[in-house]
Amino acid sequence: MRIDGTTGVVALLGHPVAHSKSPEMMNRAFQEAGLPYIYAAFDVAPEKLGDAVRGLRALGVRGWNVTIPHKVAIMEWLDEVEETARAIGAVNTVVNDNGRLVGYNTDGAGYLHSLRDETGLDITAQRVLLLGAGGAARAVGHALATAGVRHITVANRTKEKAEELAAHLRQWTATDTVGLADLNRVMEETTLLVQTTSVGMHPHVDEIPIDPSCLHDRLIVSDLIYRPKWTRLLQEAKERGARIHFGLGMLLYQAVLAFEHWMGRPAPIALMREVLETSLQGE
Ligand code: ATR
Repeated sequence: MRIDGTTGVVALLGHPVAHSKSPEMMNRAFQEAGLPYIYAAFDVAPEKLGDAVRGLRALGVRGWNVTIPHKVAIMEWLDEVEETARAIGAVNTVVNDNGRLVGYNTDGAGYLHSLRDETGLDITAQRVLLLGAGGAARAVGHALATAGVRHITVANRTKEKAEELAAHLRQWTATDTVGLADLNRVMEETTLLVQTTSVGMHPHVDEIPIDPSCLHDRLIVSDLIYRPKWTRLLQEAKERGARIHFGLGMLLYQAVLAFEHWMGRPAPIALMREVLETSLQGE
């Protein structure tokens, strides 16, 4: 594709951004779709976020992804925050429509898309154990709750945060909490275990957030961690006959949905998946 004076720009704002997979994935996606855009990552310190947004708006940048630590702070710089993003309390995608900035959150919907696509499971039949109560848990919990899962139990190291998230999710479905020490009690009836904490993430690959002996073969185990692909949790789950849902899916589909918000057309999903898988394999 030719790059010239009409080439449009899409950005990523984060701090840090050096290891992000998005620039490679998005630039390849724009090329594949024949779209005259480039995607560039910007490392923006928290106190510079407002200046950065004013700059992007002035330059007519088509949109941007927002990542750690800006997903909450970005909201005050936007003209509108769409309902789902407001309910989650965070924005990961901004669309600039002729100077009007609208914030979306594609993390939760991206997770759900990936889960449905890759497991084909009946969402409404699930009894969910949600491990963690941070930003990722909020997005995924919201997606599962509004999709109508039967029940959610939230378990988190800091109990107050679990209780706060449970109270929020209760708007949409039956939700309670359990202490990390009492997880075995709820595992028997759990059908979908969703791991949203950083436990087991590279380089701490030997860590596991729950006692593996309570994993069973009626479970789908979903780990949001994508580095490594096979976390210890997923390995132990597989050994016990559980079905597996990898973290790469959410990473992929949140990007697919962001692409569709900016470009108004379907994203080249297969190509984007291939770019991500190849890039993560090389690490
Ligand atoms: P993210 O946006 O990825 O969700 P976050 O908002 O910082 O990141 O949330 C991290 C989650 O991982 C939290 O649920 C955190 O538990 P606390 O609320 O108690 O901090 C959880 N977490 C991180 N390290 C952990 C550890 N060593 N053991 C258990 N939970 C951990």
